[in-house]
Parts: sequence; C-alpha cells; structure tokens
Amino acid sequence: MAEAILEVRDLVKNFPLTRGILVRKQVGAVQAVSGVSFDLAAGETLGIVGESGCGKSTVAKMLVNLERPTSGEIRYKGDDISKLSGRALKAVRRNIQMVFQDPYTSLNPRMTVGDIIGEPFEIHPEVAPKGDRRRKVQDLLDVVGLNPEYINRYPHQFSGGQRQRIGIARGLALQPEIIVADEPVSALDVSVQAQVINLMERLQDEFNLSYIFIAHDLSIVRHISDRVGVMYLGRMAEVGTDAEIYDHPTHPYTQALLSAVPLPDPTAREHRERIILVGDVPSPASPPSGCRFRTRCWKAQEVCAREQPLLAVPEVFREASGPAAHLSACHFAEERRIVPAGPDESGDGTDSGDESE
Ligand SMILES: Nc1ncnc2c1ncn2[C@@H]1O[C@H](COP(=O)(O)OP(=O)(O)O)[C@@H](O)[C@H]1O
Ligand code: SF4
Ligand SMILES: [Mg+2]
Repeated sequence: MAEAILEVRDLVKNFPLTRGILVRKQVGAVQAVSGVSFDLAAGETLGIVGESGCGKSTVAKMLVNLERPTSGEIRYKGDDISKLSGRALKAVRRNIQMVFQDPYTSLNPRMTVGDIIGEPFEIHPEVAPKGDRRRKVQDLLDVVGLNPEYINRYPHQFSGGQRQRIGIARGLALQPEIIVADEPVSALDVSVQAQVINLMERLQDEFNLSYIFIAHDLSIVRHISDRVGVMYLGRMAEVGTDAEIYDHPTHPYTQALLSAVPLPDPTAREHRERIILVGDVPSPASPPSGCRFRTRCWKAQEVCAREQPLLAVPEVFREASGPAAHLSACHFAEERRIVPAGPDESGDGTDSGDESE
C-alpha cells in the first residue's frame, strides 16, 4: 500500500446523555464510536459501510473537525489534527473536505450556487483572490459537469443529482487532498447514483484525491472502493480489499450484510445464501459486553460476551496468505462465500480452488 496520508487510531466519541430541564445531569453516554482504527493511502478510496446509527457520520465529522474526539488520534501526514490549533489547524482543514449526505438540506436555499461554491474562499482567500473568484467558481461548475452559466441560480432550480454536484464542487473549491463523502448518493434516485459515483471517480483521477466513501449499503461502495471497512455499533468488524470483503468475508456481520445486497444477475440471486438477522441493533448507550455483534450472532459462544475480539488477522488464517487473511474482529472467524462468483471472475488465475456450483 502507498504511504498513508491519514492514520486513525483508537478513535472514540461518547456523547453525554443528560436528563432534566433546569439542572441538566449527565446520566450516561452514547458510545457512538468506540475505538476505530484505519489508514487511508494517498489516492485510495476507503469505503465505510454499516447500518444506520453505527457511527459512520460521527467518524466523518471527527475527520473534518466538526466533532472533537473523546480520545484517539487522527494523524494527517504524521500530525494529530485533534491537537492542532490556529494556523496549522486551518491548513489541515483545507486539505480534508466533506461532502454531505443530503443535497436537499445541506445547501443554503437563500444563497446562489456561486455563493455556495465560493463560500470556502471567504475563509481561505489565499486560494482565490476576490477578483478571481467568479471565474474559479465557473471552472468548478464546469469540472462537475454543470453549465457555468448557472452560477446565479438557486439550489431549488436543480435536481437532486445536480445539487450533489454542487456539493462536490464546494468540496473541491479549496483543492483538498482528502474528501470525506458521507453517504453522498444515498438520497438520490438509483439512476442518478451511478452518474455521481462516476463523476467522483473521474475527479479522483483528475485531482489525485483520496476518498473516505461512506454508505449503508455494500453494493454501492464496491464499485468505487479499493478497500472496505464494515462497521457495527461503533466498531470496525472487518477491513479488507474489496475482493477480500465481498468474496472472502470472515466476519458473521459482513456475511449477513452481503446476503442482503441486491444482485442484478438472477442466477447469482438464486444461488446466494440468505442470512436473516434476528433482533435489533442494541442501543449505543448500553452496548453488549465483549463482541458487540453477539446479541445477533448465530455463532456466539460464552467467550464472545467476555472478551472483545480485536481487529486483527485471525489466527486460523495467519499462516496462509490467501484472501481470507485480512482484518476481522471475530473469535470464530471463518470464510464463507455468500455471493456466488460472477462469470467474469472464473479463471482469474487465483488458486482458491473449488468455486463450482
Ligand atoms: N450530537 C449527538 N448527540 C447525541 N448522540 C448522537 C449525536 N450524534 C450522533 N449521535 C448518536 O450516535 C450514534 C451514531 O450516530 P451516527 O454517527 O450519525 O451514525 P450513522 O452515520 O452510522 O447513521 C447514534 O446512536 C446517534 O443517535
Ligand atoms: S466474536 Fe463471537 S459473537 Fe462476535 S461475531 Fe464472532 S462469533 Fe459472533
Ligand atoms: Mg450517517
């Protein structure tokens, strides 16, 4: 892997749970993020997937400094950004930008598109001196596939997909190195999702960007991600390359998620295993001891309640260097192929052996 430009270590975010109107008393904490670690390499896309409420947006907000971590480190090119202030912090913030989930609510309806996209220049005038801004904004509109003449229009005059292009243009304005995209296509029609993802891929090549791409659905991140991290209840359950996660998942939660991914190919759909998870996701205010997935896991044993499984290459796979040897936080990690091999995958030269149906 290329050199990491972002190193996240043991990131924790607890939100205080308070009660009372006149005198607010803290009665507990929502453990939104509980020890998340990952690296992001230059030019790479890391997909982060997990059900709603598992802490994805909280991770994203900490990466762009919209939330302060309770503990842990976010190192950007070696410096812990949560410990920076003043000019050093401003410089880092410029380099890590966010694209938000909902293009309907994240754009101020009373501002023109030109003002929305050019707003970051108010904080960083060094990127675009005043006389230069209009042209810069028009360039950005062009880069994201919108007509530069739309610069004086308002958000409501655009479709959802176009609004997300505006959000992306704003994210690009300061020429960042890293874009944290929090479910950037989840609010869009399926037909538009692919267009926005294609645009993001093109921009990545053109501007040499690194992406953190967040989604609640594994099918969306596969296309764009080099590596994927699967989150459950504030922790990372499994991390690997897209082939490792999709074709050789070893964590029960990933396997369950994969069994629910929509498959376009009807034969694949027919041969795919279905795993129905019982129960709901527990509250992050009182998460289960040990493995957080244990209350819904069909493989749970007594040790799962006692010992938190660490995110590491499981011992059973350590000797072999095959695709199952990737990070998985499970005491009983086991390879289980959920999605059958597609036609383009047979004869790809790997020696994984038996893939006949
Ligand atoms: N500002 C906040 N105050 C209290 N709880 C919060 C706050 N933001 C998020 N949470 C809680 O933290 C958990 C994780 O939320 P979030 O990061 O938004 O998850 P996701 O993006 O995966 O849906 C949820 O239980 C959510 O209710
Ligand atoms: S550690 Fe135990 S409960 Fe957790 S995923 Fe593995 S088998 Fe299931
Ligand atoms: Mg979210």
